[in-house]
Amino acid sequence: MSTTRRIHNLALIGFMGTGKTSIGRLVAEHLHFAFVDTDELIESSTGKTIADIFAQQGEPAFRELEARVVTELATRTRTVISTGGGLPVNPANLARLKEHALVICLWASPEKIFERVRNQHHRPLLHDADPLAKIRSLLAAREPFYRQADVLINTELRSAREVMLQVVHQFGTAGHS
Ligand code: S3P
Repeated sequence: MSTTRRIHNLALIGFMGTGKTSIGRLVAEHLHFAFVDTDELIESSTGKTIADIFAQQGEPAFRELEARVVTELATRTRTVISTGGGLPVNPANLARLKEHALVICLWASPEKIFERVRNQHHRPLLHDADPLAKIRSLLAAREPFYRQADVLINTELRSAREVMLQVVHQFGTAGHS
């Protein structure tokens, strides 16, 4: 795998409910970039929802689809890429994204994440008797991977627009090509 970085895209990583998709869309609009979401790419290529893929084929099959999508993203330019929350747990995914994208992690506390996702039901990993405990343990396990991002932004005390502007600022500072 090449270690050369030519940054012409922006990738948002982070836990479920940290705003990757909504912030990503705002950033793309602001920069006049295309926007893609790895979950949406998987859903359109398979014709199945993420929940169905987890239920019918299991999480390992989903992770393989995710890795394939990441490989395909290498040809993109001027694109904001929003990623599924578990994607950076595979170090190869993060390494591939870093070849062409500035990787920014959106961060929030377990309590804030729970508040944001509690009324959403499309995420199979949060179908748990105690979703807050699940968020806490998954987030703790994933924190070392999220910290591999180029930039970490705490979303808790900022409006969506402020987070968007912060992402845009970091991208400008990174000297993209
Ligand atoms: C997952 C997060 C989801 C989706 C899938 C698994 C995870 O994406 O990829 O349900 O492992 O954290 P979002 O982070 O966009 O909710």
